[in-house]
Amino acid sequence: MKKRALVLTGGGDCPGLNAVIRGIVKRAAQTEEWEVIGSIQSFDGILREPTEIMKLDEKAVAGIHFQGGTILGTTTKGGPLAWPVKENDGTWSFVDRSDEMIRKLKYMGVDAVISIGGDGSQRISQVLYEKGLNIIGVPKTIDNDLSATDFTFGFQTAVQIATEAVDKLVTTAASHNRVIILEVMGRDAGWIALNAAIAGGAEICLIPEIPYNLNSILDVIKKRFVDGKGHVNIVVSEGAKPKDGEVSAEKSDEIGNKNLKLGGIARKLLHDLKEAGCEADMRETVLGHLQRGGVPIAYDRILATQFGVKAMELAIEGTFGEMVAYHHPNIVSVPFLEAISKYNVVNTKSSLVQTARGIGMCMGD
Ligand code: F6P
Repeated sequence: MKKRALVLTGGGDCPGLNAVIRGIVKRAAQTEEWEVIGSIQSFDGILREPTEIMKLDEKAVAGIHFQGGTILGTTTKGGPLAWPVKENDGTWSFVDRSDEMIRKLKYMGVDAVISIGGDGSQRISQVLYEKGLNIIGVPKTIDNDLSATDFTFGFQTAVQIATEAVDKLVTTAASHNRVIILEVMGRDAGWIALNAAIAGGAEICLIPEIPYNLNSILDVIKKRFVDGKGHVNIVVSEGAKPKDGEVSAEKSDEIGNKNLKLGGIARKLLHDLKEAGCEADMRETVLGHLQRGGVPIAYDRILATQFGVKAMELAIEGTFGEMVAYHHPNIVSVPFLEAISKYNVVNTKSSLVQTARGIGMCMGD
């Protein structure tokens, strides 16, 4: 009987997920000893009755490497450690179903689990590994905020999409003599904003790592407008905040989703600039989930394929409790504990920030 690997995708989707799945399946097919199945919507597919899994053979993954999203589906809610249960009085409670799930996986003849996910998923994987599950992680997120890998796949595609948005907004800002504020994703890390601002030539870039001073932004706008003529493009990361201020966010009302819903900083900034006397016409654009969908660029397809192949190789050699990672120029693996030990945020002294400042970009401070 063949050995069985189970693959799942968890957390927010990200360009390149399908290329990872294809890499895993194609590497397994080279062995003739392994077969691959997929769990629908992260671990939920295993926990549901009846179980929701799909067979993943070469036919099932043919041509999926350039498709956005994930053929397995995903979720940001619940999971085996905190499964939402609706009580009779309509309230929700959360139960730990991890032991039951591990028993079920044994019964299903699963020899290895490959969990493709972000920080939250890697944390769940560490707990499951400590409970004895043979599990391997693959890092995914457009935010690029996992420190154990040089890059996560999906990030460069998000930067490309955000850069194209800046390119478009620059010409409309110039035509109308406007200040245009573009809000991009990234959670607590300013990677997408900073990269897109440099690539797109924005005058101002605001990131979570450098709380901004409204007067610095006003100064740039004043200098760039003469007799009402001029334009300014601002790229602001969703997690940016003013000095002595808070992030623009609200609690999620989705049952089992513990993440803060970030958003609204562009609108707030526009409002605050107006209040502070900025007379220029201003508009804001929130790029939102456009950054997550669609076709992954070549770079992300290649990185994702490398991650998939490496994850399957770890399963074949029997190395568990580790997450694959990119340490240029190699694809390696690191223990989950190392992978989740710290976030990867923008180093404010880094050469990327120096480059931004070197071309005269205002970082809000
Ligand atoms: O972590 C990826 C990400 O796209 C963040 O950049 C963003 O804040 C969040 O997910 C949005 O989550 P959701 O899809 O649940 O709205």
